[in-house]
Amino acid sequence: MTETIIDSFKQAGQNHLFKYFQSLTHQQQESFLDQLSTIDDPIHLISTVKQALNFSSSNGTKSFSPLPKAQTASTLELDDHLRTTWFDSGLEAISNNEVGVLLMAGGQGTRLGSNDPKGCYNIGLPSGKCLFEIQAEKILKIQQLAGTKHGKECLIQWYIMTSKPTRESTEQYFKSHDYFGMKESQITFFNQGTLPCFNLDGSKILMEDTSKICESPDGNGGLYKALELNGLIKDFETKGIKHLHMYCVDNILVKVADPLFIGFAIDKKLLLGTKAVRKRDACESVGLIVMNEQLQKPCVIEYSEISQELANKKDPHDESKLYLRAANIVNHYYSVELLKQMVPEWIKSQDHLPFHIAKKKITSLNDEGLVVKPSEPNGIKLEQFIFDVFTSIELSKFGCLEVDRASEFSPLKNSVAAANDNPLTCKRDYLTLGTNWVVKNGGIVNGLVEVRGLTSYNGEGLEFVKGKTFNDGDII
Ligand code: UTP
Repeated sequence: MTETIIDSFKQAGQNHLFKYFQSLTHQQQESFLDQLSTIDDPIHLISTVKQALNFSSSNGTKSFSPLPKAQTASTLELDDHLRTTWFDSGLEAISNNEVGVLLMAGGQGTRLGSNDPKGCYNIGLPSGKCLFEIQAEKILKIQQLAGTKHGKECLIQWYIMTSKPTRESTEQYFKSHDYFGMKESQITFFNQGTLPCFNLDGSKILMEDTSKICESPDGNGGLYKALELNGLIKDFETKGIKHLHMYCVDNILVKVADPLFIGFAIDKKLLLGTKAVRKRDACESVGLIVMNEQLQKPCVIEYSEISQELANKKDPHDESKLYLRAANIVNHYYSVELLKQMVPEWIKSQDHLPFHIAKKKITSLNDEGLVVKPSEPNGIKLEQFIFDVFTSIELSKFGCLEVDRASEFSPLKNSVAAANDNPLTCKRDYLTLGTNWVVKNGGIVNGLVEVRGLTSYNGEGLEFVKGKTFNDGDII
């Protein structure tokens, strides 16, 4: 058995993995072989890396247009009747326990540089709350609103995807904070897969130390395999969940289980929906949700995939807007029906979920046998992207809801050293939103205040602030 594993890696050109093997203790050898045995076919793995290095977008002839009007809507321009209809329909689904929430929290947050998972990060709000707590409060609040309106108690199941590097600390954090007031039974942690890391030309697996290879999570597209392997699609069905809201842990403004979004998807009979914010200007480096004209299918394109001319093109119906402007914020609606039908197919074939390459700084063993923390990218990680499956959805079953950036999107990506998407910008955006709600309701605010998720989900229920004065840093 031992020989078979070692041989299979040597045949794949990975002799260097065993340079220190003879000097390891018996126990170290066993755990090293255990780790290696999780890789079925090393030769195939190496060829997958080569393929990923050569992969160029499968978006064919690269002719893109906005999604058809019938498949889109914008909360910036929504009439009040539709807004209320969709919100109420989503709230009703929540009250019937038909809505679940999927949180993606498996990333390593390397740019932020914190040792803890991103969700535990304290961005410096007056309350000191971390991202997980803010999101838990949103869930508790929307449950309460749905329950009160429909006269019954309801529970939203929260499925939290972690990875080997984030699992233990995430689960421990929830436990030590009493699940932020949620029931323990409402929360399911599950792990996405990991894949080895490679040197820059993809020929060699990197080693973490003399008895371990470097591994990293398989990207947000690892979600689909993780749902299948953890039996979660069955779990959704058993629990009567029909609709899922999926979002990323790092968006401090996320409207978790947003009833309006759920209602939009129900009304349009979508299998998959996505939120987008308006691209700021032609130069903003964001992915875009568009239609691939050749395939007549929805897809996401990177900013580098379109010409300057197309990036600058104005909407012929409204010159004040860009033609392609739906910026991707990785915030989705999935019908459980879709996942049941399609996940087995998606995870079978790399046509649906190809591997992409991310160049990263990977702490690893150098040729002299020393563990080195590099200052420049020294290796590659393989990642699958969650939105690569969009092209397998019928256009008429796919929808995009444009939402207000200032109310719904402010991600925590970087440390304070960066100019954008850092703890300071997240704090500012979160407090500004709450302060605006208070002012709109007739409160007088000197500075910025924090509105707790348990006080208001989306600016509602704040009539009590009318005529009252609040000071900078107050918590309402
Ligand atoms: P990012 O792509 O911004 O990655 O993730 P990250 O890990 O947070 O940060 P960097 O790139 O290392 O600095 C966007 C979202 O996708 C999740 C993250 O947790 C975050 O919510 N994600 C990313 C996963 O769940 N798994 C992954 O393998 C990658």
